[in-house]
Amino acid sequence: MTKEKETVLEGSDVTLFCKAEKYLFSNLMWSYPSEQAVPPVLTEKHHKEHTTFFSFTIKNVTKEQAGIYNCSAENRYTKEVLQRSTQLIVQEKEAPWVMQHLQNVTVNSSSTLVLECRVDGTPLPTITWFKNGYEIQPASGITMLYNENLIIERVKKDDEGLYTCRAVNEMGYANNSAYVTVRGGEEKSNIEVIILVCTGVAATLFWLLLTLFIRKLKKPHASEIKTGYLSIIMDPDEMPLNEQCERLPYDSSKWEFPRDRLSLGKTLGHGAFGKVVEASAFGIDKCSTCKTVAVKMLKECATNNECKALMSELKILIHIGHHLNVVNLLGACTKPGGPLMIVVEYCKYGNLSNYLRSKRGDFIAYKSQEMEKTADDSSGDLSELIKRRLESVASTGSSASSGFIEDKSYSDSEEEEEDPEDMSKKQLTMEDLICYSFQVAKGMEFLASRKCIHRDLAARNILLSENNVVKICDFGLARDIYKDPDYVRKGDARLPLKWMAPEAIFDKIYTTQSDVWSFGVLLWEIFSLGASPYPGVQIDEDFCCRLKEGTRMRPPEYCNPEMYQTMLDCWQGVPTDRPTFTELVQRLGDLLQANVQQEGKDYIPLNTALRVDGETNLKPGSGEQSIRNSVTRWSMLESGNNNKNRPLSVKTFDEVPVGKDKVLNEEGESDSGMVLSSVEMKNLKRQETRSWPFGIIAHA
Ligand code: ADE
Repeated sequence: MTKEKETVLEGSDVTLFCKAEKYLFSNLMWSYPSEQAVPPVLTEKHHKEHTTFFSFTIKNVTKEQAGIYNCSAENRYTKEVLQRSTQLIVQEKEAPWVMQHLQNVTVNSSSTLVLECRVDGTPLPTITWFKNGYEIQPASGITMLYNENLIIERVKKDDEGLYTCRAVNEMGYANNSAYVTVRGGEEKSNIEVIILVCTGVAATLFWLLLTLFIRKLKKPHASEIKTGYLSIIMDPDEMPLNEQCERLPYDSSKWEFPRDRLSLGKTLGHGAFGKVVEASAFGIDKCSTCKTVAVKMLKECATNNECKALMSELKILIHIGHHLNVVNLLGACTKPGGPLMIVVEYCKYGNLSNYLRSKRGDFIAYKSQEMEKTADDSSGDLSELIKRRLESVASTGSSASSGFIEDKSYSDSEEEEEDPEDMSKKQLTMEDLICYSFQVAKGMEFLASRKCIHRDLAARNILLSENNVVKICDFGLARDIYKDPDYVRKGDARLPLKWMAPEAIFDKIYTTQSDVWSFGVLLWEIFSLGASPYPGVQIDEDFCCRLKEGTRMRPPEYCNPEMYQTMLDCWQGVPTDRPTFTELVQRLGDLLQANVQQEGKDYIPLNTALRVDGETNLKPGSGEQSIRNSVTRWSMLESGNNNKNRPLSVKTFDEVPVGKDKVLNEEGESDSGMVLSSVEMKNLKRQETRSWPFGIIAHA
């Protein structure tokens, strides 16, 4: 039995839960207060591991249905029948009524007036205050404490009048009024008033200037703000992050989910203090009784700070809102008496980086037209197909068109059944790669519009869900950044150097534009099918300086010229020269469309579409290398991109031969963990007038 007592309002729907050991008990039965058995059609049974969940729903509950409900189960072996009861209390709806009448009062001018509206009703009425029939709005000196108390500070003669509080609920309303008289207040001479006002204005100005000055002195860059371990933050230009998080609301009536309706499963990821586990949630949405979800929670060793960080993460997720291409919040368990848990959407196919790597043997640039035809038999003409695909990615998941919308109908049974889209058999195409890129741009456009900066945009932070939908996530506490070589140590922080824009590396400036840089690196990851960026390049101070000077990564293996140009645009040195996410959505949408039209035609590899023009950093005798090392403009791009600052020639990193002391990752690529000696650090500091964000870094 989930609860011994359940209090509900008449007219609402109520579900009573009872659970029993699956192998020990059978013949589960609910009975009414009259002791009559509840017909099985009104009950539902779910099995999960060792437990049977048995629920009974009463719709539109009435007062007469209140009473003690029993759930009984029979012990399979002893045949003993066990019974548990829950008391259902049904609250009657009542129109608001006045508990205590307001009294007429006389107050002195400049004093504080407090009026208390003591009313009750079921459901609890909302209270509105009126003065002489006009609604009172909160303003400077006028506070409405929980709307019950009206507080007017420094009362003036003008405040005199008839005050009414009106309590309203769905059953009706009640008024409670009193007359307020203000004594004195007219005597102050004009001179006195002028002096008072001038002093006030001067003091306010002084205070404003002082706080602005202090803020300017103290204002931290985004990276310096203690965010716990969250990488997604709200733009710190708006307000310091800690303050923002404290002010963000948590509406428990909307988000609270009972812990006992979560059945935790295997761990999906973990860090030093937090973890993400797979779980089944009973009754978390209207579409399914049992849904697979991911639950973010703390490890036992976590402290109060980590708890605050997780709570901030929850509030940020609520603030961000829902979008198809972000891992959406489903609920939270915040009530005392158990661990803090954040329930988010579960993405069945894991992170994009691993997924792409697993598909390396299954990549084909284009499906032939015949293949496409059989796959999309019902889709009709080509332009309609493209239109519907773009629409479906751009929607927030409610559309029922084809493409990669979320399948809202999947329920607990889906785990046992055979997967209809079986991704292990699916071939990966160029269209899939562009489509993932487009969706991430969409998600980032949304985050940017919500004034959120991700700060750790990378394929490891993108999850793949059903129907080819990708979602941006933030592992936060649940990533072991101490073990992951993509994160490089700086003091007690670790940073994803290879994904960071130069201004983030050197000046700790994180903005939506620095997210665009990371997006460029993410595109590179996608079009290399999950390779580690800057392969073969030693990530040291020379790398950072060359990045700052304009040296860039070479195109990845499976990339076309337009896509590489998009990467280069994201890696513009001047942040404002980079495209916005809205522009990227447009550009990738066009590429997706062009790609669908290309299907069935021949694939033109990148190096045949390139035209060598300008500076190269060739190794003697490497013909293909020469084209790849100096990437120049190509005709297809000249018409499409009107960015005047786009370099005509881009210097690219040469591959550094892998020495015996270099760590290789599982693909045989050079691992990118940063290796800096103290001497190198000193040299770098001499070159850079601004401070280098890393301490002496040991390769993890
Ligand atoms: N790993 C971390 N978060 C996850 C999620 N939401 N779905 C699947 N795997 C995850």
